[in-house]
Formats: sequence, structure tokens, C-alpha cells
Amino acid sequence: MKVKVGLIGCGNMGSGLFKACAQLDNAEAVAVADPIAENAKRLADELNVNAFSSYEEMLDKGGIDAAIVAVPNYLHANVSVAVAHSGKHVFCEKPMALTVDDCDRMIKASESSNVKLMIGQVLRYLPVFNKMKEILDSGLLGNPFSMYVSRLGSGTWGNPQHWRMKAETCGGVLYELNVHELDYMRYVCGDVDSVCSHMGNFLKHDTRDYEDTVHVLLKFKSGGMGSLLAGQCSSIGGYDGKIHCTRGTMHFDNGKGTINYKPFDGEEVTLGRDDMKTEPGVRREIRLFIESIIEDKEPPIPGWDGKKTIEIVQGAYISAKEDREVKLPF
Ligand SMILES: NC(=O)c1ccc[n+]([C@@H]2O[C@H](COP(=O)([O-])OP(=O)(O)OC[C@H]3O[C@@H](n4cnc5c(N)ncnc54)[C@H](O)[C@@H]3O)[C@@H](O)[C@H]2O)c1
Repeated sequence: MKVKVGLIGCGNMGSGLFKACAQLDNAEAVAVADPIAENAKRLADELNVNAFSSYEEMLDKGGIDAAIVAVPNYLHANVSVAVAHSGKHVFCEKPMALTVDDCDRMIKASESSNVKLMIGQVLRYLPVFNKMKEILDSGLLGNPFSMYVSRLGSGTWGNPQHWRMKAETCGGVLYELNVHELDYMRYVCGDVDSVCSHMGNFLKHDTRDYEDTVHVLLKFKSGGMGSLLAGQCSSIGGYDGKIHCTRGTMHFDNGKGTINYKPFDGEEVTLGRDDMKTEPGVRREIRLFIESIIEDKEPPIPGWDGKKTIEIVQGAYISAKEDREVKLPF
């Protein structure tokens, strides 16, 4: 069986996902949709598939079984609900949606239509993060109880008219970028009990209308804690962190592509890029989505999982706005 797949949103991410899909043996890339005709045509011509200017028309006439949703963030929920209601399986890019209520709508639509819903939290599958989870799952370092991640840059990200530059259409930096790290922290340390955050726009780049610096503090249900420092506020930048566990500590530097870990009673081990070769993350997530359809099983990052991460993100914005700790679920 080959799952026939359509793409909604032919921008950078959608194109990457769809090309990965076209490489799979058990999927067939058949149609793309984008209101910007040249975006749809470029990809359709390259992959020799049909192009539509409206995703509703593609759902109706495209002959697809499943759709990849890679539109701007504020459209994820409505488009995913429409895909599910049309009886097609949904792969939705991160962030799942901009509110928990929208996540609930997506989950309800997929359940009532009996279709799969998977969220593209691809960071879990990227080499450094994939390898760290493998090491943690081996039990060598014991249970994680404290984790920090720092992801900083100095980017202004270009065109101020782009949806990514406005809080209304992208949600803010935690939705657009750091939903990745917050999802990963939850993946590693378990569900979150409460979130506290502070954020501000200090450098006031005129290209973006939202925060450039964010601190988030998490309390996990396990009793452990996590912190994230994020933003486009650093002329030095960097992307690293540490995970403290009951039997040892692990450090990663995603910029350098290194992991080092040391049990309290053992030698320190350093891993480089050659030690963590893995299937490209985008290809793996699409492959797993397709397999979940063919084998009729729950996808690896289903709607309820994506929703728990959006709870953290939305909770962080509530916390910053109301200057209080926010208990989850709220
Ligand atoms: N997983 C990752 O690491 C990662 C990386 C980049 C982007 N993303 C996510 O992917 C999504 C797309 O980001 P991008 O960088 O490709 O953006 P982009 O601006 O390059 O592309 C978005 C595309 O969606 C199209 N679009 C807008 N409204 C539409 C509609 N109603 N129907 C169909 N198409 C429509 C636009 O015309 C554009 O071609 C975002 O949600 C973003 O957060 C994820």
C-alpha cells in the first residue's frame, strides 16, 4: 500500500517535508496547495505532481489520503481541522497551534473522523537530541532531575512583513522557535507541573514585534526542574545545555555537535558528529507518520503529546503577562 500525500503550504519547511515524503517507498507525493501560485508551481514542477491554489480544492479533488500542514502558525488549527474533517490523515508542523483550545479542536476533529494526527516536533529526531535520549534511556546516568537549555542568536530574520515577524501570526519566539526545546525538556524529564517566565524586548529590532529575550522556569511533575534561556539578544549566541541525573551529568553543544557525559563513578565520554549519525530527522518523522497510517497505530508524536507542549508555551506567556507561576493544565 502507498499512502497518497498532499502538501498544504509550499514554503521552506513544507518543501523539505514533501521532498522527504517523495523518497519513501510506502508513500506517494501527489499534490501541493499554496495560494501563492509560484510557490506551488515550483514544487509541483520539480516533483511532477498536481498544483492547487486552494487547499480545500486539493482536499476535494487531489486524490490524497493524508496531508502535511506547513502553513504559518496561526493557520495550523483551522487547516488541520479541515483536513481531518475531509477524512484525511494530518501531519501538522510545530507549533501544533497557538492555544490549548485550538489543540483540543484538532484532537477532536481527528478522533471524530478517525484519522491520525501527528505533530512535527522534529528536534527529538535530530542527531544530538536523538543521541542524548538514547543515552538517558539506557539508564547509565539514572533519572534526570535538572535540565537547562540555552538557545541564543542575534538574528533579525529579514522581511518585517513576513508572518514570522508578528506575534499575531507566529505567536512569539516560544511558539516559533523554542517550542522545540520545551517539547524536548518534557520528552526527557516528563510532564510539567508549573511554568514561570519573564520576557522582554530589549534590543527592539524593527523587524519583529515580539520579545527578544525569554527566561522560562519549569517544575516537572517528578519534582525535577528545568530552565530555558532563549532569544535573539546575544552577539555571541550559542545552543547548549546540561542534564543532571541521579547517576551522572550530560552536557551538549548543538552548535559544535558534541555531547559529553560522565557518571559520578565513571570516566567522561565525549561524542562528536560521527558518533551520532542517524536518519535525517525530517525524513524520519514523515516515515513514522506514514507507517502509523499503514499499520493503523498511534503516531509517535500524537495530538495529545503536541498539546502538552503547547500548554507549557501558552502557560509561559500567561505567566509573563500576569507575573505569576502558572499550574498546568490551566
Ligand atoms: N520543524 C522545524 O524545524 C521547522 C523549521 C521551519 C519552519 N517550521 C514550521 O513550518 C511552518 C511553515 O514555515 P516555513 O518556514 O515553511 O514558512 P514559509 O513562509 O516559507 O512558507 C509558508 C507557506 O505557506 C503558504 N500558505 C499561507 N497560507 C496558506 C493557505 N491558506 N493554504 C496553503 N498554503 C498557505 C505560504 O504562501 C507559504 O508558501 C511553520 O509552522 C513553521 O513554524 C518548522
